[in-house]
Amino acid sequence: MKALAVFPASREVRLIEQPEPVIAGPTEVKLRILEAGICGTDREITSFQYGTPPLNSPHLVIGHEALGEVIDVGIGVTGLARGDLAVLTVRRPCPHDTCAPCRKGRQDFCITGDFTERGIKGAHGFMTEFVVDDERYIVKVPKELREVAVLLEPLTVGEKAAEQARFLTQRLPGDLKDDPSQLNAVVLGAGPIGLLGAMKLVNGGFKTWVYSLDKADSPNVKIVSAIGARFVSSAEHPPADLAKIIGNISLVYEATGAAKISLDVLSVLSVNGVFIFTGVPGGRAPIEVDAEQIMRNLVLKNQVLCGTVNAGRASFEEGVQDLGSFMQRFPAAVRALITARMTLDDARDAVLSRGGIKSVIKVA
Ligand code: BGC
Ligand code: ZN
Repeated sequence: MKALAVFPASREVRLIEQPEPVIAGPTEVKLRILEAGICGTDREITSFQYGTPPLNSPHLVIGHEALGEVIDVGIGVTGLARGDLAVLTVRRPCPHDTCAPCRKGRQDFCITGDFTERGIKGAHGFMTEFVVDDERYIVKVPKELREVAVLLEPLTVGEKAAEQARFLTQRLPGDLKDDPSQLNAVVLGAGPIGLLGAMKLVNGGFKTWVYSLDKADSPNVKIVSAIGARFVSSAEHPPADLAKIIGNISLVYEATGAAKISLDVLSVLSVNGVFIFTGVPGGRAPIEVDAEQIMRNLVLKNQVLCGTVNAGRASFEEGVQDLGSFMQRFPAAVRALITARMTLDDARDAVLSRGGIKSVIKVA
């Protein structure tokens, strides 16, 4: 079968032939991959800044955002059957008994660092024709979501952030945690992670704002308006203006990976505010920040800063529900997130080029 692989030692990205995987245990499931999304992480891996092949393999098959169809199941599989649509989670637990998160199925909080991530770290990914994995890592998706279910994995970034934010606002008394319609939430960045996060916030009842560099007439900003969120241009309005335009900013969902703008927005976070980081900065030169002011605000305003990576199975399940309700509320906006569909033969060019919102490889 064909697969798109990166060879870090020789700095190559190419389509390869791999043996088709087979079911080897009773709880394993075989999927035919239908679609695989491309994200910033894939671009970092194919520019050799990130990613690790499996042990003793010169190459890594990339791809971690995949929708598949179940074509075979082991004899012990209970939750999936042939013909089901399904999405795979990304991270697999580390082997250590002492890692409580991994032992509890929350490898997104692994403490040893010895987890693997399919298509990213130590395990082959999904930009290929067939995949086998244990059913515990595979989440069933209703047939009605076929055309957009490839967006589930990037949505889980926002789902896990929402889980964290719910937990962090539990510390607050009364109304503050109960009525999102009174709270302004700001999304930084209008790429797929930002826009899906904005959909989650709108759906959760927050007054939702998206702050990004995009032009007002860009497809990204059209999606912002279509879902009932409001756009503020970071090209026109510096972060210092944000609180004047918006009012109290209770929640920030960062989806830019840009440290400077993020920390500038942190300086306008409100009292009791929560700021969630999801972007991974590229490791550019150090930037200057007013640490005195940041620390002063954190203390005097009871603020919380929270980073989040990856997502557990529950976030995928909640994501399936949310994607269903997004498709009820604003189907055209959800569809508009997918701006290109290419074949596996064109996957290399697709990963190496930029542009659009979300490019998807149609495998089957
Ligand atoms: C993936 C996550 C992964 C992270 C870090 C993201 O692109 O969506 O599943 O944990 O990269 O490797
Ligand atoms: Zn990703």
